Amino acid sequence: MRRNHLAVITALAGLGTAHAQEAGQVNVICSVQAEWCNMIQTVFAKTTGVKVNMSLKGSGEALAQLIAEKANPKTDVWFGGTGDPHLQAAEQGLSLEYKSPSLTQLHAWAQQQAAQSAYRTVGIYSGPLGFGYNPELLAKKKLQVPKTWSDLLKPEYKGEIQVANPASSGTAYTMVATLVQLMGEDKAFEYMKALHKNISQYTRSGTGPIKAVARGETSVSISFVHDGPGEKMQGFPVETLTPAEGTGAEIGSMSIIKGARNLEAAKKFYEWALSPAAQEMGAAAKQFQLPSHKAAKVDPRVPDFKKIKFINYDYAKYGASAERRRLIAKWEKDVNSLPK
Ligand code: F6P
Repeated sequence: MRRNHLAVITALAGLGTAHAQEAGQVNVICSVQAEWCNMIQTVFAKTTGVKVNMSLKGSGEALAQLIAEKANPKTDVWFGGTGDPHLQAAEQGLSLEYKSPSLTQLHAWAQQQAAQSAYRTVGIYSGPLGFGYNPELLAKKKLQVPKTWSDLLKPEYKGEIQVANPASSGTAYTMVATLVQLMGEDKAFEYMKALHKNISQYTRSGTGPIKAVARGETSVSISFVHDGPGEKMQGFPVETLTPAEGTGAEIGSMSIIKGARNLEAAKKFYEWALSPAAQEMGAAAKQFQLPSHKAAKVDPRVPDFKKIKFINYDYAKYGASAERRRLIAKWEKDVNSLPK
């Protein structure tokens, strides 16, 4: 009996391998949060038979890996993460030109992201930058909710604010680029130097700070506001807002890697990831960016863009290699190296 059982399992395992070999595999760097990455991995494999080898990396780290493996790419698709480093990857010849037949079904901002990269990347979602805060912790410390960028400089927030490091995190680079566009470069760097005194920690990952807020480890974070509701749904006391002076937004993107070893599977994954059903998986995994496909359902927890004061973020300029590198190096030298 046991022998038979084993034989069935072995035969099934054999079939599984044959199926996977037939349908192939795809190597994906995933720059959204783990729950969404895992869902994609499972559902895509189930629907298509294609095995997904997934590695999770922040936007800046993903770009660094793609640069490092340029001569011998191991990645087929880079899914998610802020758009600026995807544009830099396009400019550096790391991603492949590919025009999806469903491009016209995407929102204008997603198509624009594709057009300005000469079709080497595409927008898959968007979301505004703002603040996360823990109302219980603020009340306990008798601190007001900060409503503006300038509020964050008040001395009472010393050691109370977290944001990520712009070299590893696309969220933090979006902050640097937003402030430069909002205030002008000199004033923005003066601002970030002053803000430095109130920062307790620059985290590696962009979502680290709002998770710390949710868990009561810090009062305030500079974060994408679509990362708030997922923490709240887990029962944590966390709220978000966008600063009154205005803010920027990311165009989360996806690129096929030039020299991809599994190109057919990569294209299959890419097309699937642009479909409304796949895009709705973000909300199912408690992540509330605005999907780029016009027909994808928008969860009520997705931030209402009409109520937010946005700057006119220049994606082409701040996604250009030289500009991104220059601003990150300047932040490292002028801001991060300062004593607190
Ligand atoms: O997955 C959440 C998210 O905020 C995405 O919207 C964004 O593209 C990504 O994280 C950025 O992560 P990081 O700042 O670590 O590069």
